[in-house]
Amino acid sequence: MKSTITGILLFLFINVSFAGEGMWLPLFLKSLNEAEMQQMGMKLTAEDIYNVNRGSLKDAIVHFGGFCTSELISAEGLLLTNHHCGYGQIQNHSTLEKNYLKKGFWAMNRGEELANPGLTATFINEIIDVSERVLKQVDENMTTSERQAVISKNLSKVEADIKREAYQDVSIRPFFNGNQYFAFITTTYRDIRLVGAPPESIGKYGSDTDNWVWPRHTGDFSLFRIYAAPDNLPADYSEENVPYKSKHYLPISIDGVEKGDFTMVFGFPGRTQEYLPSVAIKEITEVLNPAKISIREKALSIIDKYMRANEEIRIQYASKYARVANYWKKWIGESTGLTKTKAYQKKKGFEKEFTKRLPKDSPYRNILPQFDQLYKERTPLAYVRDYYSEVAGRNIEIMRVSQMADRLVSSYEDNGEARFNSYRERMITSLESFYKNYRPEIDMEVFEALTKMYSDNVDAKYAPKLMKSGNREDDNGRNMISGSYLLNKTVFNKKSEMMNLLAGDAESVVNAIKADPLYIFSKSWKEVFDKEVAKPLSAIEFQIDSLQRIYMKAQMETFPKRKFYPDANSTMRVTYGKVNGYNPSDAVYYEPVTYLEGVIEKYKPGDYEFDVSDKMLKLFENKDYGQYADRNGKLPICFIGTNHTTGGNSGSPAIDAHGNLIGLNFDRAWEGTMSDYNYDPSICRNIMVDARYILFVIDKYAGAKHLIDEMSLVHPKKN
Ligand code: ARG
Ligand code: ASP
Repeated sequence: MKSTITGILLFLFINVSFAGEGMWLPLFLKSLNEAEMQQMGMKLTAEDIYNVNRGSLKDAIVHFGGFCTSELISAEGLLLTNHHCGYGQIQNHSTLEKNYLKKGFWAMNRGEELANPGLTATFINEIIDVSERVLKQVDENMTTSERQAVISKNLSKVEADIKREAYQDVSIRPFFNGNQYFAFITTTYRDIRLVGAPPESIGKYGSDTDNWVWPRHTGDFSLFRIYAAPDNLPADYSEENVPYKSKHYLPISIDGVEKGDFTMVFGFPGRTQEYLPSVAIKEITEVLNPAKISIREKALSIIDKYMRANEEIRIQYASKYARVANYWKKWIGESTGLTKTKAYQKKKGFEKEFTKRLPKDSPYRNILPQFDQLYKERTPLAYVRDYYSEVAGRNIEIMRVSQMADRLVSSYEDNGEARFNSYRERMITSLESFYKNYRPEIDMEVFEALTKMYSDNVDAKYAPKLMKSGNREDDNGRNMISGSYLLNKTVFNKKSEMMNLLAGDAESVVNAIKADPLYIFSKSWKEVFDKEVAKPLSAIEFQIDSLQRIYMKAQMETFPKRKFYPDANSTMRVTYGKVNGYNPSDAVYYEPVTYLEGVIEKYKPGDYEFDVSDKMLKLFENKDYGQYADRNGKLPICFIGTNHTTGGNSGSPAIDAHGNLIGLNFDRAWEGTMSDYNYDPSICRNIMVDARYILFVIDKYAGAKHLIDEMSLVHPKKN
């Protein structure tokens, strides 16, 4: 009896796609999703969302800098994205005197909009299913290498055959672990200017304490503008450029949201892995996440100490700190959520059902045992890889300079002087911005602490000889790989000495680099790592990837009625759900909408995370919300829904049943950050800023009414 019930439950789990789960390709909305979306309340058709022959919603959706999403909200190229997506740019324009992080920034006319060299905005012009052409002459009896050889030959041909304009690009990407391929024709704009950003007390309210947390009260938005050449095509920054004219931009609804309302989020989710075997989940929760969390915790505690003591350091390290803290906290939530929702056991149950459905002689029967074997080999190496990349690749900053120096040396030795010169030029530019936000004393402390963690927690076999006792002492018995020794002796952390070093002729630059003690140390570390970890690991991962492709195919064949969506891979996707609260724990229910009252509740005068400006306090006191108040008279701040999102979806529009912008996606609720591996509709929620709060800040708080005037505010619920 019990097993029939589990069977039925499993059957339901497998066949019903929960409204909310899934990141769908716009190309297939008609066949896979339209009916369900309409049944959930959507008034649009699939063609209104994605259409290559006329303007559709997709023409308003923009990949921002390749790492976030943004959307057009005016006929004059005005882009809305998150504050944390534009953070690097806002910070770069900030100084102690003109502190846009602290005070906010508002261009009061077009002339005041600020250029951001290197920042891009990419439109998707067309998506084409090229699976058949890419997989031509591929058959299942090929070895992985044979298969790859055929595919890469096909890829170049297919890419060359795709018709495009001179200003367009094409990229072909694998889906479902390489079982399908899609081509994306894109247009990338290169003159993107900063138009407006609220102060951090709004745009980053709650900072790291509230990051990944619901209830949330952050006005996480900023405004940019796309500029184009006079013919509306992409161009480098120029004074001749004019605001971009688009085929579509999103009207903004100021009627607000209620529990149960349909929502759709359109954007560029970065990476998910929803179809992994259960062993992989175990590896994440038991081995990899705990290691990464502990390393970042250490680094963050050191940086935090300095930031709290010095305002200049706070500005210098704000962006870096936020980036490191972001995933540190996410991994904690992810592990907790995976454990709490029994993701491992759920996958196990699924695997049991999968195996049961396979014919006795199916070759797919080998898949899961093979995974078990491969992960057993992989886990210890993946652990060291994550350790190395967190310590050496990520958190000790000076290692970055060492990596660049290494590239410079090899560009000379492998390719000669011309390559050396061109890389040197790029390196000098990167170093300028590196040193601008670099404090050797902080890095030294991080270096000491993290190399110690590495020696303590990683098998000595993976440590460079220099790290082992007996080798690390100099003639006077001093520890040569301690931060205080090494970072004193190296020139990499001393800007003017380093720039001097780089100014010499190629030969002498290379010699000086090779003699640098930090270079010698990091090089020897990397050599051990490459030989003992990277190489064997990549051989195993090659097999895992290939097995994962077969497992994906097997899952799709074994559950033919289930609707599968491809894992996120930074390509354009639509996800949809409803505004809804959730139970984070026993007896606790979270409402789906927050109000300005909550900002005031969290207010801590003078605190760097929870301070509120006098201006905002005054607006609150007078309930001076203009047309942006909710029906209950309160000012809405954020809301949550069941949309399935991930990193890269930040800045994505939340769109209502009619195609209007109602909010701006920026985060997920902590309990549900495991949605990258195991979406669970009971606790996975995406967090959006309410469009009315954004408009309120621009209009009532910043007095930038001219920006509101170029938008279209609409009242779909009143009609
Ligand atoms: N957690 C959100 C995302 O992954 C927001 C991150 C930015 N905010 C922060 N306090 N670090 O991007
Ligand atoms: N905050 C994330 C981003 O920047 C969104 C998420 O992970 O939910 O894309």
